[in-house]
Parts: sequence; structure tokens; C-alpha cells
Amino acid sequence: MTTTTHASAIAATGLRKSFGDKLVLDGIDLYVPAGTIFSLLGPNGAGKTTAVKILSTLITADAGDIRVGGHDLATDPHAVRSAIGVTGQFSAVDGLITGEENMLLMADLHHLPKREGRRVAAELLERFDLTEAAKKPASTYSGGMKRRLDLAMTLVGDPRIIFLDEPTTGLDPRSRHNMWQIIRELVSDGVTVFLTTQYLEEADELADRIAVLHDGTIAAEGTAEELKRIVPGGHVRLRFTDPAAYKSAASALREVTRDDEALALQIPSDGSQRELRAVLDWLDSAGVEADELTVHTPDLDDVFFALTGPARTPDQTKENVR
Ligand SMILES: Nc1ncnc2c1ncn2[C@@H]1O[C@H](COP(=O)(O)OP(=O)(O)O)[C@@H](O)[C@H]1O
Ligand SMILES: [Mg+2]
Repeated sequence: MTTTTHASAIAATGLRKSFGDKLVLDGIDLYVPAGTIFSLLGPNGAGKTTAVKILSTLITADAGDIRVGGHDLATDPHAVRSAIGVTGQFSAVDGLITGEENMLLMADLHHLPKREGRRVAAELLERFDLTEAAKKPASTYSGGMKRRLDLAMTLVGDPRIIFLDEPTTGLDPRSRHNMWQIIRELVSDGVTVFLTTQYLEEADELADRIAVLHDGTIAAEGTAEELKRIVPGGHVRLRFTDPAAYKSAASALREVTRDDEALALQIPSDGSQRELRAVLDWLDSAGVEADELTVHTPDLDDVFFALTGPARTPDQTKENVR
């Protein structure tokens, strides 16, 4: 996308970055309207942190036009820095000092007057349910508490655009849901969130738009609904434990997708009772007895598999749903 409007919080075109001879970002475009949640989705090593570091001025891109908060990143990095907050993949929390001291340190970094700094720190600690733990060393905090403190520290400067790099990786389900709620509240206050995640479910829950990063390019981009449309439909999955049974089923059924590694076969199906009955009849008549049968309705995992799965050739993986 080449057009940039004043309503865009982030607009990057042709973003390129290599480390040595390793190409990490091969000229990607990113566009995030103000007040929305954008999710950059990809597995470990896809280049998510690299993108966040570039957009937040921590490292420079090899090429690309980037505007963040309406400022040109190349000519006005200071203005970009004052508009944004970054919660890195690895915590900025200092474990040796208390949660409150961490907050006051941030307030100092933002040159807040002492009294104002104390007020902002107390308010944020309260908002993130950390008041009780405020006087304890941060090293004693649980993973979820540390993440909340990290985010609270990011908010001290009242940024309008926030980068969250894998904010829930490693959290237990309850802390993850808690963090999701916090992120939703941020956006309802008008903040723009650029979120990276490895979890398809998380992008589906939170993001207005999702970009799938794969092999240095955006393999697909759109709303969760649009991405799900890439996958034509649901399927019935049959899994076998005996390789011989798997092989004979695969040759008897033919019109199925094979997963030789998992000894699993996938039969397209809309998941309705009528289709399921037809599938079961068909399996019976072919004499196929699977060890496990699951009915699958399409989700983002299927999208990811469709885009990046080993069964696809490179020219089939490029799919743009915009
Ligand atoms: N400073 C660096 N020097 C060399 N290689 C790097 C550096 N930072 C990241 N990489 C490499 O770039 C690729 C993308 O890394 P990263 O952006 O951290 O991915 P992600 O955050 O999606 O897991 C990885 O192969 C990583 O090893
Ligand atoms: Mg990362």
C-alpha cells in the first residue's frame, strides 16, 4: 500500500533488513490505522522483533519509507520516539528494585516532575493491580505481574502508539486473558497497538488486522475473517497409528490430503451432520478404520498451515486478501 493518510499511526513501505547475508525482512509493507490493533503474526525467527525494533527506532532499516505517528522515521526519529511506547519481548523490569521504584525510574526518564511522577506511578500500579506488590522487589513477581509492570512502565510517558512484542508468550492462560483485557482497554482509550505474537488465537482475539510474516514477506494480510476465507472449508481428520493402515487408507481414499509425517488424512467437509454421515459411510465402504477422527472447522491455524505448510510450493504461498 503506498497511500498514507493522516489517520495512519504506522505506515511503512518496502521495509528491508538483513543481518550479514541473512535477509530477514524482504521489503514488507505495513499499514496501521490509528486507534486499531494490528498483529504481526509469525513463528520464532520470522522477523517480528526486528520489525518492532525498526519501527520503534531501536535499529535502522536497510531500506524503506516509514512513518510512525505522522513523523518520518528517517528524518525525525526523536518525534517518533516521543509518540511511542515499547514493551520488548524481554522484560525491561529491574528485578533488584521494587515495582514502584521501577515506575519512578521511568518517570525520571520521561522528565516528569517528582510529584507528577509519583501520581502517574501510583495510578498505573493501581490500574494494573500491582499496588499491593508495589513495595516488593520485582524479582519476586510472577510472570504475569512482571508483564503487567513492564506494560505499566511503557505507559508512563502516555504514548499514543504502543509496540507489544509477544506480550503473552510464556504466560499461563489466566494471565494471558488478563493481558488481553488490558490491551483491549488501551485501544478503547484510543491508543494504537502494534502487537507481535506466535499465537493465532491471540491475533484472532485481539487484532483488527493481521499480517502473517513468513520467509521475510507478508504471506497474507487482512482481518481474521478474511484470513479464514483463504481456507476453503473445514475437514475431517483421520489419524492412524499403524503406518500400513495409513498407507492402505490413503490409497483407498485418493481424494484426500495426506500428512505422511503425522499419519493423518484430511477429507474436506463442512462439518454438518449430513456430510459427516456421508464421510463415515464412505470410510465404512472403503474398509477404513482410523484410530482417531476429528472434525475441524477452519481457524487461523488452518490459514497458517495453508500459507506456510510444507505441501505448498512457494508460488502458492503468496496470497493477498486485501
Ligand atoms: N542482531 C542480530 N544479528 C544477527 N542476526 C539477527 C539479529 N537479530 C535477529 N537476527 C536474526 O534475524 C531473524 C529474525 O529474528 P527476530 O526478528 O528476533 O525474529 P522473531 O522476533 O520473529 O522471533 C532470526 O533468524 C535471528 O536469528
Ligand atoms: Mg521476537
